[in-house]
Amino acid sequence: MLPEPEADARAASERLVARIRGEIREAGGWLPFARYMELALHAPGEGYYAGGSAKLGAGGDFATAPEMGPLFARTLARQVAQILAPGEAILEFGAASGALAGALLDELPGTRYLILETSAELAARQRARLGERAEWITRLPEGFRGVMLANEVLDAMPVHALAWRREGILERGVDERLAWEERPAAGDVLAAARALQLAPPYESEIGLVSRAWMKLVAGRLARGALLVVDYGFPEREYYHPQRTSGTLMCHYRHRAHGDPFFHPGLQDVTAHVDFTALARAAREAGLEVLGYAKQAQFLVNCGITAVLEQYDPEDVERYAPRASEAHKLLSPAEMGEIFKVLAVGRGAPRALLGFADGERSHTL
Ligand SMILES: C[S@@+](CC[C@H](N)C(=O)[O-])C[C@H]1O[C@@H](n2cnc3c(N)ncnc32)[C@H](O)[C@@H]1O
Repeated sequence: MLPEPEADARAASERLVARIRGEIREAGGWLPFARYMELALHAPGEGYYAGGSAKLGAGGDFATAPEMGPLFARTLARQVAQILAPGEAILEFGAASGALAGALLDELPGTRYLILETSAELAARQRARLGERAEWITRLPEGFRGVMLANEVLDAMPVHALAWRREGILERGVDERLAWEERPAAGDVLAAARALQLAPPYESEIGLVSRAWMKLVAGRLARGALLVVDYGFPEREYYHPQRTSGTLMCHYRHRAHGDPFFHPGLQDVTAHVDFTALARAAREAGLEVLGYAKQAQFLVNCGITAVLEQYDPEDVERYAPRASEAHKLLSPAEMGEIFKVLAVGRGAPRALLGFADGERSHTL
């Protein structure tokens, strides 16, 4: 059983539900799931990321790697430093609490740090934390030079939900009851679903929004790299014949469950990232794939053990939380295997530190 929200949170969710129902009615009784997810997460003032709920940390719904402590950022900083040329900047997408930005700036002082955050509420939290150390932008700059970072951002981008049935390929959407309803797929969604050649019965998601985002971002990167860190798989695993019910996952108060219609606006709704599709989109937009690895492999290659060694094991109070953080970041049972790092770029060093050993881009 999921815990019930407080009355004021429930009221906020009901306002969002009224807005979603209104849009469903206007659209003739049905919306694609991707549009529902966009509203549930990002509707101004009421969507999960836009609204006032805690989201991150112990009182929230989930914890990301930079939220657990400084190890992730301190290790990532080594990779960022290898790519950055003098005078270049970092651009972080979706900085949430600002934890990654703060820790990276501690490691790379003086680096210009831009944040592109779609949630006004989270941007305000970031400003309170980082003050003048960062700059907030609302549009992608042209001709960006440096390192772009997206940690756990692409899983929050809306996905199209598809069902491969014996009668054909259907798009899963939402009706006025806020329940699943399927309609024949059409257009780009149908073309993308057909290309996967899946045997019915099968349900999954397609990240058309994140592919379009990749193309847009790629077009603005004049020199440097984009590092995407998120949970996900290459295509052959994402659409494995046995993964018949997709990757949609919701997070509410540190519980994961599969109902995207539970109190819209109060819970995170996510889908895993198809890294093969992202890499393809990047290549189509003229970027090179510089590396792809499991998070554990990437962090070990970047020297997480040397970072951990900077903490004195005799100083148990300081060391123990860092050792536990390293375990969470690296363990295959926690974040080490399900999280992947994809690096794409233009004019960046080919032999990136994080991909020196282990898996290479040919596994995508
Ligand atoms: C799960 S949180 C990310 C956590 C954070 N990067 C970290 O490492 O702790 C998702 C973040 O992405 C933001 N976001 C979602 N879609 C976005 C987009 N298209 N562009 C920029 N930020 C986005 C959300 O507002 C939120 O700040």
